[in-house]
Amino acid sequence: RASDHVRLVEVGPRDGLQNERQKIPVDTKIELVEKLAATGLTILEAGSFVSPKWVPQMANSSSILEHILKTPPSSPEKIKYQFLLPNTRGLDDFLNTYNAHAPTSTPDSSPASTPSPTEPPEIELSIFTAATETFTRKNTNCSIAESLSRFAPLLSRARDANLRVRAYISVALGCPYEGPDVDPHKVAELAVSLLEMGADVISVADTTGMGTAPRTRELLKTLAAAGVEAQDLALHFHDTYGQALVNSLVGLEHGVREFDAAVAGLGGCPFSPGATGNVATEDLVRLFESLGLKTGVDVERLAAVGEWISGELGRPNDSRAGKATLAQ
Ligand code: HMG
Ligand code: MG
Repeated sequence: RASDHVRLVEVGPRDGLQNERQKIPVDTKIELVEKLAATGLTILEAGSFVSPKWVPQMANSSSILEHILKTPPSSPEKIKYQFLLPNTRGLDDFLNTYNAHAPTSTPDSSPASTPSPTEPPEIELSIFTAATETFTRKNTNCSIAESLSRFAPLLSRARDANLRVRAYISVALGCPYEGPDVDPHKVAELAVSLLEMGADVISVADTTGMGTAPRTRELLKTLAAAGVEAQDLALHFHDTYGQALVNSLVGLEHGVREFDAAVAGLGGCPFSPGATGNVATEDLVRLFESLGLKTGVDVERLAAVGEWISGELGRPNDSRAGKATLAQ
């Protein structure tokens, strides 16, 4: 892994859309994924297999997975697609579609590492728990301990199926129900448990955007002291209070090289009242490139996707860098 490279995980199609009240046609979601795939982004979270009673907007995620497997979007780089799951029921639903449509063997046509447009996409899973009991109950109707017990069989079955798993820890820097002072040791304890259980990466999430630079620094130090290495971490900032860019810089200084974001700053969690979207991917690209780090993303193309999806949803484009890029 080149130290001058930052991995961006585009969560717009999942985190960005899950909170929209109006029903978004599946064709629009697929078009969003295809447009994002053409920008140079290499990791896209494309949907979730959660209860449709809880999050109706994600109900057609299996159609998106099917489309990705049958007609991989063309992209300049090989893309990994992620799907979010809360439990083994979600895994069963995911595997039904995955096993029905995943190519059985990888075509070995080109000897070089250059990705071929026909190469089958790689699929990963993501799971989620939270650092406070109240948020875990509101989001997944169980305690933190119960959420970990749900993950144990899920992680072992994912391993059997050769699927990498990313684990989110929500409300790591503030909880809508318990306030901003979430215990960083609780986050670290959860991160250690999830890594021991077999999660490949921990995405530490500021669901409410309450995080500040000093508290982000404190959290990252606490994680390091507990033995969680920067390479095992991603950061997932929502930008409710406009602190996501500065908090990302703190993450970079601590060695983190994986960041989640949503095009046009889409998003929010249905179980985090008042929280707004993820940090805009366009804004993060501009920050990282200004520091000499490479993202592989064509920011003009990305800005155009942000403007397009904002228009489709009838919402303002929340990326400052995206709007300014388009106005140039
Ligand atoms: P529950 O109601 O306690 O579950 O929900 P249950 O096991 O009692 O099942 C209730 C019904 O849901 C049953 O159906 C199940 O079959 C069904 P019924 O018999 O009533 O017809 N069910 C499912 N259906 C589809 N897919 C499934 C599934 N599981 C059960 N996987 C549950 C528990 C976890 C399922 C529910 O609370 C849930 O789906 N929650 C989803 C919450 C969610 O998606 N939140 C947003 C994503 S997380 C997020 O945004 C944060 C993040 O971005 C990071 C950050 O910013 O913090 C990742
Ligand atoms: Mg989120």
